[in-house]
Amino acid sequence: MGHPLLRQPARPVALPASPEISSLIKDMLDTMTAAGGTGLAAPQIGEPFRVVIFQADPARAGEGPDESVGLTILLNPLIELLTAPTILGWEGCLSVPGLRGLVPRAANIRYRGIDADGRAIERQARGFHARVVQHEVDHLDGILYPQRMHDLSQLVFESELDWSQKGEMAALEV
Ligand code: NI
Repeated sequence: MGHPLLRQPARPVALPASPEISSLIKDMLDTMTAAGGTGLAAPQIGEPFRVVIFQADPARAGEGPDESVGLTILLNPLIELLTAPTILGWEGCLSVPGLRGLVPRAANIRYRGIDADGRAIERQARGFHARVVQHEVDHLDGILYPQRMHDLSQLVFESELDWSQKGEMAALEV
Protein backbone atom coordinates (compact mmCIF):
# COMPACT_ATOMS: atom_id res chain seq x y z
CA MET A 1 0.00 0.00 0.00
CA GLY A 2 1.41 3.34 -1.06
CA HIS A 3 3.49 2.04 -3.98
CA PRO A 4 2.82 4.24 -7.05
CA LEU A 5 1.77 1.25 -9.20
CA LEU A 6 -0.99 0.43 -6.70
CA ARG A 7 -2.38 3.95 -6.99
CA GLN A 8 -2.73 4.36 -10.75
CA PRO A 9 -4.69 2.73 -13.58
CA ALA A 10 -2.95 -0.25 -15.20
CA ARG A 11 -2.51 -0.54 -18.97
CA PRO A 12 -4.60 -2.80 -21.24
CA VAL A 13 -2.82 -5.87 -22.62
CA ALA A 14 -2.46 -5.66 -26.41
CA LEU A 15 -0.83 -9.06 -27.03
CA PRO A 16 -2.03 -11.73 -24.58
CA ALA A 17 0.21 -14.46 -26.00
CA SER A 18 3.43 -12.41 -25.90
CA PRO A 19 6.36 -13.85 -23.93
CA GLU A 20 6.20 -10.83 -21.62
CA ILE A 21 2.58 -11.49 -20.63
CA SER A 22 3.05 -15.27 -20.44
CA SER A 23 5.94 -14.73 -18.04
CA LEU A 24 3.90 -12.25 -16.01
CA ILE A 25 1.03 -14.72 -15.65
CA LYS A 26 3.41 -17.47 -14.52
CA ASP A 27 4.92 -15.13 -11.91
CA MET A 28 1.43 -14.21 -10.70
CA LEU A 29 0.38 -17.86 -10.37
CA ASP A 30 3.57 -18.66 -8.43
CA THR A 31 3.08 -15.65 -6.16
CA MET A 32 -0.56 -16.39 -5.43
CA THR A 33 0.22 -20.03 -4.66
CA ALA A 34 3.16 -19.14 -2.40
CA ALA A 35 1.05 -16.61 -0.52
CA GLY A 36 -1.96 -18.89 -0.21
CA GLY A 37 -4.09 -16.18 -1.79
CA THR A 38 -7.44 -16.32 -3.56
CA GLY A 39 -6.52 -13.83 -6.24
CA LEU A 40 -3.84 -11.44 -7.46
CA ALA A 41 -3.57 -8.46 -9.79
CA ALA A 42 -0.47 -7.66 -11.87
CA PRO A 43 0.25 -4.27 -10.19
CA GLN A 44 0.69 -6.16 -6.92
CA ILE A 45 3.89 -7.69 -8.28
CA GLY A 46 5.05 -4.45 -9.87
CA GLU A 47 3.68 -4.88 -13.41
CA PRO A 48 1.31 -2.16 -14.69
CA PHE A 49 -0.94 -4.37 -16.84
CA ARG A 50 -4.63 -5.20 -16.71
CA VAL A 51 -4.20 -8.84 -15.71
CA VAL A 52 -5.91 -10.56 -12.75
CA ILE A 53 -6.01 -14.17 -11.58
CA PHE A 54 -8.47 -15.57 -9.08
CA GLN A 55 -10.42 -18.56 -7.86
CA ALA A 56 -13.40 -18.99 -5.57
CA ASP A 57 -13.28 -22.39 -3.92
CA PRO A 58 -16.76 -23.94 -3.50
CA ALA A 59 -15.79 -24.86 0.08
CA ARG A 60 -15.50 -21.15 0.88
CA ALA A 61 -17.94 -19.73 -1.63
CA GLY A 62 -21.03 -21.85 -1.07
CA GLU A 63 -22.73 -24.20 -3.45
CA GLY A 64 -24.92 -21.82 -5.38
CA PRO A 65 -24.54 -21.29 -9.10
CA ASP A 66 -22.18 -18.43 -10.02
CA GLU A 67 -20.81 -18.32 -6.44
CA SER A 68 -17.68 -20.36 -7.04
CA VAL A 69 -15.22 -20.45 -9.91
CA GLY A 70 -12.10 -22.37 -10.86
CA LEU A 71 -8.73 -20.75 -11.41
CA THR A 72 -9.27 -17.97 -13.91
CA ILE A 73 -6.76 -15.83 -15.79
CA LEU A 74 -8.53 -12.68 -16.95
CA LEU A 75 -7.05 -9.92 -19.07
CA ASN A 76 -8.56 -6.50 -19.76
CA PRO A 77 -11.58 -7.16 -17.51
CA LEU A 78 -14.72 -5.06 -17.51
CA ILE A 79 -17.25 -5.25 -14.69
CA GLU A 80 -20.90 -4.32 -14.59
CA LEU A 81 -22.49 -4.16 -11.14
CA LEU A 82 -25.99 -5.67 -11.26
CA THR A 83 -26.84 -4.71 -7.68
CA ALA A 84 -25.77 -1.87 -5.42
CA PRO A 85 -22.47 -2.37 -3.56
CA THR A 86 -24.04 -2.85 -0.14
CA ILE A 87 -23.16 -6.39 0.97
CA LEU A 88 -20.55 -6.35 3.74
CA GLY A 89 -17.84 -9.00 3.88
CA TRP A 90 -14.34 -9.34 5.31
CA GLU A 91 -11.43 -8.86 2.95
CA GLY A 92 -7.70 -9.02 3.21
CA CYS A 93 -5.09 -8.09 0.65
CA LEU A 94 -1.52 -9.21 0.04
CA SER A 95 -0.69 -5.53 -0.55
CA VAL A 96 -2.15 -4.53 2.83
CA PRO A 97 -0.52 -7.18 5.02
CA GLY A 98 -1.73 -7.91 8.51
CA LEU A 99 -5.10 -6.19 8.18
CA ARG A 100 -8.71 -7.17 7.50
CA GLY A 101 -11.60 -4.91 6.68
CA LEU A 102 -15.35 -5.13 6.31
CA VAL A 103 -16.01 -4.01 2.73
CA PRO A 104 -19.29 -3.32 0.92
CA ARG A 105 -19.55 -5.00 -2.50
CA ALA A 106 -22.20 -5.78 -5.07
CA ALA A 107 -23.72 -9.24 -4.60
CA ASN A 108 -24.27 -9.71 -8.33
CA ILE A 109 -22.04 -8.68 -11.20
CA ARG A 110 -21.37 -9.45 -14.82
CA TYR A 111 -17.79 -9.42 -16.08
CA ARG A 112 -15.98 -10.01 -19.30
CA GLY A 113 -12.49 -9.95 -20.74
CA ILE A 114 -10.12 -12.38 -22.45
CA ASP A 115 -8.10 -15.34 -21.27
CA ALA A 116 -4.37 -15.95 -21.79
CA ASP A 117 -5.07 -17.24 -25.33
CA GLY A 118 -7.14 -14.21 -26.25
CA ARG A 119 -10.47 -16.08 -26.02
CA ALA A 120 -13.47 -14.20 -24.72
CA ILE A 121 -14.68 -14.77 -21.17
CA GLU A 122 -18.12 -13.53 -20.13
CA ARG A 123 -19.73 -14.56 -16.85
CA GLN A 124 -22.20 -13.61 -14.19
CA ALA A 125 -21.01 -13.93 -10.62
CA ARG A 126 -22.59 -13.84 -7.19
CA GLY A 127 -21.45 -13.70 -3.61
CA PHE A 128 -17.85 -14.62 -2.90
CA HIS A 129 -17.01 -15.00 -6.59
CA ALA A 130 -18.39 -11.50 -7.27
CA ARG A 131 -16.47 -10.08 -4.29
CA VAL A 132 -13.14 -11.53 -5.43
CA VAL A 133 -13.54 -10.14 -8.94
CA GLN A 134 -14.50 -6.67 -7.66
CA HIS A 135 -11.46 -6.64 -5.35
CA GLU A 136 -9.05 -7.69 -8.12
CA VAL A 137 -10.37 -5.35 -10.79
CA ASP A 138 -10.16 -2.47 -8.31
CA HIS A 139 -6.40 -3.12 -8.18
CA LEU A 140 -6.26 -2.32 -11.92
CA ASP A 141 -7.82 1.06 -11.25
CA GLY A 142 -5.52 2.00 -8.38
CA ILE A 143 -8.06 1.20 -5.65
CA LEU A 144 -7.31 -0.81 -2.49
CA TYR A 145 -10.12 -2.20 -0.34
CA PRO A 146 -9.79 0.34 2.52
CA GLN A 147 -10.83 3.00 -0.02
CA ARG A 148 -14.13 1.14 -0.46
CA MET A 149 -14.88 1.01 3.25
CA HIS A 150 -17.48 3.28 4.83
CA ASP A 151 -16.58 2.51 8.46
CA LEU A 152 -12.86 2.42 9.24
CA SER A 153 -13.58 1.16 12.75
CA GLN A 154 -13.98 -2.15 10.90
CA LEU A 155 -10.36 -2.07 9.67
CA VAL A 156 -8.53 -4.33 12.11
CA PHE A 157 -5.25 -6.11 12.65
CA GLU A 158 -5.49 -9.86 12.16
CA SER A 159 -3.68 -10.23 15.48
CA GLU A 160 -6.61 -8.53 17.23
CA LEU A 161 -9.26 -10.80 15.76
CA ASP A 162 -11.50 -12.82 18.00
CA TRP A 163 -10.53 -16.43 17.30
CA SER A 164 -14.18 -17.41 17.14
CA GLN A 165 -14.47 -15.15 14.10
CA LYS A 166 -11.27 -16.28 12.41
CA GLY A 167 -12.97 -18.62 10.03
CA GLU A 168 -15.31 -15.98 8.70
CA MET A 169 -12.69 -13.25 8.63
CA ALA A 170 -10.16 -15.39 6.85
CA ALA A 171 -12.53 -15.66 3.91
CA LEU A 172 -10.54 -13.55 1.51
CA GLU A 173 -6.87 -12.74 1.03
CA VAL A 174 -6.26 -11.27 -2.38
NI1 NI B 1 -5.77 -7.22 -3.01
